[in-house]
This record gives sequence, C-alpha cells and structure tokens, in this order.
Amino acid sequence: MQFEFSANPLGKISTDAVLILARQSKKEIKFLTDLTSFNEKLRKALLKAIETAGFKAKRGETLNFYLGEDFLAKSIIVLGLGQEQEFIADDLRQAVGSLAGKVRGKISSIALQIPSEKEITLLQKDTAQVIAEGSILGSYEFNKYKTEKSEKNLSTIIISGVNSTSVKEGIEKAKIYCEATILARDLVNEQAAVATPTYLSDLALSIAKKDPKHLTCKVFGKKEAEKLGMEAFLGIARAVDAEPKFIVLEYTPDKMSKKEKLALVGKGITFDSGGINVKTGDGMIDMKCDMSGAAIVLGVFSVISKINPSFPVLGIVAATPNLISGTSLVPGDVVKAMNGKTIEVLNTDAEGRVTMADSLSYAVKEKATKILDFATLTGACMVALGTDITGLLSNNKDLAEEIKKAASAAGEKMWELPLEKDYKELNKSEVADIANIPNTRYGGTITAALFLEEFVDNTPWVHLDIAGPAFLAKPNELGPKGGTGHGVRTVLNLLS
Ligand code: BES
Ligand code: MN
Ligand code: ZN
Repeated sequence: MQFEFSANPLGKISTDAVLILARQSKKEIKFLTDLTSFNEKLRKALLKAIETAGFKAKRGETLNFYLGEDFLAKSIIVLGLGQEQEFIADDLRQAVGSLAGKVRGKISSIALQIPSEKEITLLQKDTAQVIAEGSILGSYEFNKYKTEKSEKNLSTIIISGVNSTSVKEGIEKAKIYCEATILARDLVNEQAAVATPTYLSDLALSIAKKDPKHLTCKVFGKKEAEKLGMEAFLGIARAVDAEPKFIVLEYTPDKMSKKEKLALVGKGITFDSGGINVKTGDGMIDMKCDMSGAAIVLGVFSVISKINPSFPVLGIVAATPNLISGTSLVPGDVVKAMNGKTIEVLNTDAEGRVTMADSLSYAVKEKATKILDFATLTGACMVALGTDITGLLSNNKDLAEEIKKAASAAGEKMWELPLEKDYKELNKSEVADIANIPNTRYGGTITAALFLEEFVDNTPWVHLDIAGPAFLAKPNELGPKGGTGHGVRTVLNLLS
C-alpha cells in the first residue's frame, strides 16, 4: 500500500473514491471530514442522498455516491464509524478495514482527510496509524493458489491536507505492524505440506541473516534436540520421518538499557491431526492453523530491527506436525521434558502443551526474565470466550496488566482467566509427574495453562490461548477467512 500526501483539498484530487467519515451523535450525523471543498450543489445532493438512503453512520456502514464527468474523483464514499459516545480507536480501524474489504477488487485509490485532534479524541499519530492499519489489513487476501486474481487492488491512499510528522510517524508504524501481521497470516494460511518445520526454520534463518548485527538464529534438529533432553517435543515429532525443528531466534540491542530478557514462545504444530487420538474431519479441517503462535514469533522477528527494543528478545518455536503412524506416541506413554519433569501422555491430541513443555523449559534455561507464550491450545477457550477473544493466564499481575494494555491499544481482544491453583491436582498422573490431560473436561483452558506453568519455573509469564482469534471461520472487518496474525500487534506495542 502506497500512502501519498496531497496539499489539495478533497474536491481537487483525482482518485477512484473520496472518503468521508461520519459518526452518529445522538440522532444526528456528524462529519469528521471537511465538506467545504465540494461546491454547494454537490454538498446538498450528498446530504439528500444520505437522508434518502436512511444512512445511519453505523460502524462500517457505507454509502456510495457516484460523480459525473465534471469531477476529478469518480465517487464519494461515506463511511460510518458508529456512535460518538462509544467511540474508541478500534472502531475507526475496523470501519476502515471493512471498507477496504468491501472495495477489494473494485477500486485502487482512496483520498481522505485525517480527522484533527479537535474532532476525534485521538492523537493525530494514532488516528493515522489506525486508518493505515485498517486499509492495509482490510484489503489483505491470500490468493497464491487462485488462478484468477483480482485485477484491482486498493493500492494507494491519498492523504489530503495535513502532512505533519506525526501523521507520517503513525503511517510508518502501521506499515511495520502490518508487514509483521501479514507475514504471520501468510504462514498460517499456507498449506501444511508447504509450511513444514523446515520451511519455518529456513524462514527464521533468513530473517536473522537480514540483520546479522542484532539477530542470530539457531536451529536444532532431532539429534541436537535429543542432546538437549527434549524428549517431550521429540515424542510428538516421532510419528514422521520429517525433521522436527527447534528454532531459537535472538535479538540483541546495540546498548542494553535494561537487564530484562523477554522470551516469546509460539506453539508450532504445523498440522494437528490429533495423533492416535485422531480428530474428526470437521475437527481438523482448519488445523494448519496450529502454528499460529509460531507465526506470531516469526512475524515479530521479521520487523524487530525496525522497532529496536532496548532489551534482548528470544523467539522460541518447537516445530513439528502432530500426525499418526506406527511410531506415534500412544496414550500411556511417558516422556521427560528438558527440565526433568516426566509427562504421561494420556491423549495425543493435547500435543501443544507437550511440545511447549520443552520450549518453555528452554526459555528458562536461557535465563529469560519474562516469558510470553502464544498457543492455539484449547477448544475450551473458544467455549469460554468465543471466537474473537484470547484467553490470558499469568503467574504475574504486573506483566499481565502490561500485556492487557498493549493488547487493548492494538485492538486485539484479550481477557484474563484465573490460574486457579486448586485445579492443579486435576492434572495429576498416577505414573508420572504430570498428565497431559486433566481428569475432567471442565475448565480446559485453565488446566492447560496450569500444565504449562510447571515448565516456567516461577519466571514472570503470560500465556495467551489464541485458539479463537488466530483463525477466522468467516471474514471479519480486518480480513478474510483464515489466519489473522492476532497477537502480533500486541507484542509490537510491548516492544515499542
Ligand atoms: N490445536 C488444538 C486446539 C484447538 C482447537 C485450536 C480448535 C484451535 C481450534 C489442541 O491441540 C487440541 O487438540 N486440544 C484439545 C485438548 C484436549 C484433548 C484436552 C481440545 O481442545 O480438544
Ligand atoms: Mn491437538
Ligand atoms: Zn493442537
């Protein structure tokens, strides 16, 4: 997406569409765009059209007004942002996103004004950022395997009027955030036959190569993982010949200003069939999404040099599919994680926590002072919070609050569930230190998080169960069906 600046008022810009932003204020419609550069006749006709169409300025509601030959723009689009009283930045992001989705394949340029701080309770920088994010993410599509691709893509946003550094800053930030989000989306949307552990590790290596001054990447195959004692990860990987890959990215800042070291751990199951506890057809149809956590880590590292955090950051992914063969783990098998704890695998479909036992142990071994993990871990989280909200569980109040703040600024919905210690006994095993499934189906997101907690050794830690928002079953305002990259923008806010 190109962002261009024009000193001309909206009425004097040649473009496919001029965008007018509108909000509901009590019963009235309030415009956040200056209409005075249109002549009076046009202004009147537009207001009449708005009235006749019954346009209410609901969030994402649009009204198209086509212009004749006398005008430089081909059309005017009025876009609703919703109620003035309830307005938050994410309404603007989502409204612009839904518009970008609606015009996908139809128009290629839009001219707009960035509303001023007087008209909208947002800093110009943030307004510019959310508008840019909405337009980039809303027009995303994964069309690699379509033989017919749409001819027109929304490719240019022309910003009329202000050309301030804060607007430019907001747009630059949005571009970085979206680049990372789109990388994550592409990885999730890619078929499992392509997005293999080796594909992910090659990508990690190539990301590190782009900035050798700050980034390193280590990849452990079967042999090295064995040496490190990663029996849990290797147990899940045992079903197939293909090499599992344990990927470690590390970012080191120029000058260390803080002593902290943040580890980002992503679940990297490249396809989850359930293993011997095989899923139903419906249950596994979208399970290429089970490496969404890994995709977040790779997305973040692909732009981390542009964000330049002042503290070191680790990215850790244990990548393998969860498949079925004569060498698969079977219920009752016991594996020992890198931190020495033994796990009785009673259900091979609870594989994510088993692989993450090793990736979390590794973060502890590398002396991370804070751990943040992302995992499409439990269907139970979707039962609890629905498809749009991430479950957040933590052993540390301050870190949890920090993540919640970063998430809310990013427009990524997260809600805390308790890490109830009285539920720990539900994960008890008769034969090993812990079982990989609890003895009840209730509270599945909490018991899964309690399992993970056994491997973080008191390090301040936040677990994000992204099973719902990682992958859309149907399109939403910010993108089509498929991978969302949800989580990327939260981390980038945290690093900024
Ligand atoms: N990857 C799944 C969880 C999942 C389900 C993510 C739906 C996204 C959408 C995970 O590996 C899994 O299978 N979890 C089981 C755990 C159970 C066996 C304790 C589940 O949620 O059913
Ligand atoms: Mn599973
Ligand atoms: Zn899984």
